[in-house]
Amino acid sequence: MNWRELGFNYYKTAGNVRCIYRDGHWEEPFFTEDEYIDLHMAAACLHYGLDAFEGLKAFCGEDGRVRIFRVADNARRMQSSAERLCLPVPPVEMFVEACKEVVRRNSEFVPPYGTGASLYLRPMLFATKPCLGVRAVDEAMFVVFCSPVGPYYKDEVRPGRALLDLGCDRAAPLGTGDVKVGGNYASSIKAGDWARQEGYANVIFADSSERRYIEECMAANFFAIKGKSYITPKSTSILPSITNKSLCTLAGEMGLSVEIRRVSIDELAGFDEAGACGTAVTVAPISSITVAGEERTIDYGEKPGPVSMSLLKALQDIQYGRAEDRFGWMTEV
Ligand code: PLP
Ligand code: COI
Repeated sequence: MNWRELGFNYYKTAGNVRCIYRDGHWEEPFFTEDEYIDLHMAAACLHYGLDAFEGLKAFCGEDGRVRIFRVADNARRMQSSAERLCLPVPPVEMFVEACKEVVRRNSEFVPPYGTGASLYLRPMLFATKPCLGVRAVDEAMFVVFCSPVGPYYKDEVRPGRALLDLGCDRAAPLGTGDVKVGGNYASSIKAGDWARQEGYANVIFADSSERRYIEECMAANFFAIKGKSYITPKSTSILPSITNKSLCTLAGEMGLSVEIRRVSIDELAGFDEAGACGTAVTVAPISSITVAGEERTIDYGEKPGPVSMSLLKALQDIQYGRAEDRFGWMTEV
């Protein structure tokens, strides 16, 4: 395995863990090598988007031990997604145990320390019940699979250009933007694809009622640094990022003031640094934001900002076991 060449792709591993919900309870979880799922063509997940997922990583530390980052937080977020879609709610312990079991069974796929790579875990929950009417279902499957993934940046961190797309809404104020469900990605894929074709590394969405406030990126939260402040948008329609929550804690520890509030588009020009944060990207500094259709670009520079880099280092030091796990974020497998 060429660990250094890994991107963010599906890679076949030893297997996955599954658990079925039917007759009012979760059955015993089982491990399988099967990459395919036998699904009825009328399963509600295929028609009505009754599916939720998560993304988290396991890291091989400097001491050779493997630890998963904030797995119980992902479990709780999947519970809120399940509740929003009226799907059976996976217990936190079942979720955590399934993730640990997948890591244990795929130990040869955990990238070694020093490669910058990690083992990405993808828990998913979807309605398997065959039905035609649009309604809540009482049959579902919970699966956790994994794939080794490379670091977002191969060598040094290079800020990427972002496109603020005011012509596409990702989520409505009281819609499903604050949970991790497939439909949110379906609604943003066109904007993301367009931005990529135009050479942007990321797309940013604004609030869908006024289009005056920054919401988040396609698969990451948005943050900015201004003087001694860490600023990140507050909204009912953005995903509560576990990476962002961690950065808020680390920023506070570094003596920055943390502002979780509405962030107006007009404020962008006054920020010193801007970035995207999430499990897949970790901390991805933004070099510029172009407002689509307005011929307006705000520049943050081609070099990553010092505060973003300190936050990235502080986060990775904990994830790779180089710093004490002072917030109890790591679960050893
Ligand atoms: N926002 C969206 C829409 C995402 O898909 C993700 C990725 O999971 C995030 C934010 C970042 O969340 P987290 O840090 O929990 O991975
Ligand atoms: C993650 O950061 O884990 C994500 O889920 C992003 C994914 C949608 C590509």
